[in-house]
Amino acid sequence: MNATNLVEQAELRRSTTLARLNPEDRARRGQYFTPAKAAELLTNMVTLPSDGTFRVLDPGAGTGSLSAALVARLISQAPGVHLHLVCYELDPVLLGPLQETIAECETAATTAEMSLTWEIINADYIQSSVGITRHSHLGGFDLVLMNPPYGELAGIHPARRELAGHLVDTPNLYAAFMALGVNQLNDGGQLVAITPRSFANGPTFAPFRRYLLSVVHLTHIHDFASRSAVFSDSKVLQETIVIAAQKGRHADQVILSTSFGHLDEPLRRLVRATDVVDPSDSAQFIRIPTEDADVAKVLALPGDLASLNISVSTGKIVDFRLRENLMTEADETSVPMIYPLHFDAGVIRWPVARAKPQHYALRTERDARRLLPSGNYVVVKRFSTKEERRRVIAAVWSPEVSDSGIAFDNKTNVLHIRGAGMDLELARGLCIWLNSTPVDKFFRTFSGHTQVNATDMRIMRFPSDQTLRVLGASWSPPLVQNEVDELVDRCVFGSVGAVN
Ligand SMILES: C[S@@+](CC[C@H](N)C(=O)[O-])C[C@H]1O[C@@H](n2cnc3c(N)ncnc32)[C@H](O)[C@@H]1O
Repeated sequence: MNATNLVEQAELRRSTTLARLNPEDRARRGQYFTPAKAAELLTNMVTLPSDGTFRVLDPGAGTGSLSAALVARLISQAPGVHLHLVCYELDPVLLGPLQETIAECETAATTAEMSLTWEIINADYIQSSVGITRHSHLGGFDLVLMNPPYGELAGIHPARRELAGHLVDTPNLYAAFMALGVNQLNDGGQLVAITPRSFANGPTFAPFRRYLLSVVHLTHIHDFASRSAVFSDSKVLQETIVIAAQKGRHADQVILSTSFGHLDEPLRRLVRATDVVDPSDSAQFIRIPTEDADVAKVLALPGDLASLNISVSTGKIVDFRLRENLMTEADETSVPMIYPLHFDAGVIRWPVARAKPQHYALRTERDARRLLPSGNYVVVKRFSTKEERRRVIAAVWSPEVSDSGIAFDNKTNVLHIRGAGMDLELARGLCIWLNSTPVDKFFRTFSGHTQVNATDMRIMRFPSDQTLRVLGASWSPPLVQNEVDELVDRCVFGSVGAVN
C-alpha cells in the first residue's frame, strides 16, 4: 500500500459506502463525504511540520477520506513526522469503513517508515467536547481537519444550548464543529474546514464569526464557483468554501483561491487580510471576492447555451484519418474544410494561401455525414497556443455563397442550432461575447488548461438572445480586444441596452 493506492482505496470506499446509505438517514446525519480530489485540495492547504508529533483531529470522519488524504501527503512530503490521528464518528454504520481506511493509512505509513498512531472514537463530538461527558483527549491539536455535518441547530436543540453555555451560540452543526475545533487547537494550530459559505456573512452567524476570528485568523480561503460540483454524488446544492485558519499568529495577507469544482486547477491570489475581514466591522463579515469583478458579473448572468437553444459539437473531421478526402484543389464534390489556421480576428478566412489541403471531397455517403449544412456558425478553437493571450478564441463562419456543406476539423468546436446554422446577427453576437475578456477570465476560474472542450462551453454563461443580437448588430471585424471589451461592457453589463 503506497500513498496513491491509499487515496484510491479511500475514494472507492467513500463511493460504495455512500451508495449503501439510506438517503433520508444520510440527509438527517449530514453525511456528505469528501471526494478524493477535494480532500487533496484541503490537505494541500495545511502547513506541514517537518518533524515532531503532529496531533490531528478529524471530527465527523465519515469513511476517513480526509485522514487518508492527509496521511498520503505526509508520506510523500513529511515522512519524518509522528502523526497522531483522532477520528470522531457518531454513526456506527460508518465505523467499519472508517476502520478499514485508517488500517490502510497505518499500512501505508509503515511501508514508508512513517510513525502513525490513531484513535477512532464512536461518540458524539459535541457531547464529548463539552460538559460532563467531555473527553479528556479532546484538546492540544496541531490541526483540525474537517468536513463537518451540516444541519440546522434549532434554538431548543440540546447541542446548541450546551454549546451556547460553554462557548458560543451557533445556528448550524457545522459551525458548532468549527467553534469546538478551534477551541481545541494548540497555539499555532491550524483549522482546515470545508463548509457551506453561509457563515461568512449575515446576522445569524455573527456571534460565531466573532468567536472564530477571536481565536484564529484566516490564512487561505478557497471558493468553489460551482454550487453542485463538489458534492454532486450526494446531490448537495450549496455554495461551498474551504477555509484555512491558524491560532495565535497574525497574518497581513490571505490567500484567495477559486476553482469551478474540485477537479479544476485553482487560480490563486493574495489579498490584504483587512479586505477579507474589516477590523472595524462589528459583525465581522468574511468577504470572499471572486477572482475579480468581471468574473462576478459573468457568474451573475442567468443564461447558458441550452437556454439559448444552441448546441455545441466538436468538429467531425479527424484529418489524419481522412487524408484521402483532403485536397489542395477544389473539385465538383468538395466543400470548405475549416481548421484553426483559418481564424482571423473574429472571422473564418477561407481559403488562405497555405499548402495544407483546405478542401474536403465527398467520396461516399458517409463522408457527407461528417458535414454541417451550409450556414452561419460560431467556431471556437479547442486548443490555444502558449503564445495566445486568450484561452477562448471564437470566429464566425459565414459562407459568401451557399454551398453543399461545411467540414470542421476536430480541433474546433462548433456552435449550431439543432445541427444547422443560425442567423448572422446572433452568430456575431455570440462571437463578440466569447472573445471578451470577462469570458476568458471566467473560463480560467474552472479550467486550468489550454483546451476548450464542448463540455466547457456548456458551462459558460451567456447574455440573453436579445443582448447577443445587440452585440451582433455592432459587429465590425477585425475584432480588437479593447473594442470587444468596451462593447460587452456597454451592451451586456453597462447602462445602454443592458438586458442581459
Ligand atoms: C459531511 S460528513 C463528512 C465525512 C468525512 N469527514 C468526509 O469528509 O468525507 C459528516 C460526518 O459527521 C458525522 N457526524 C454527524 N454528527 C456527528 C456528531 N455529532 N459527532 C460525530 N460525528 C458526527 C456523520 O455521520 C458524517 O459521517
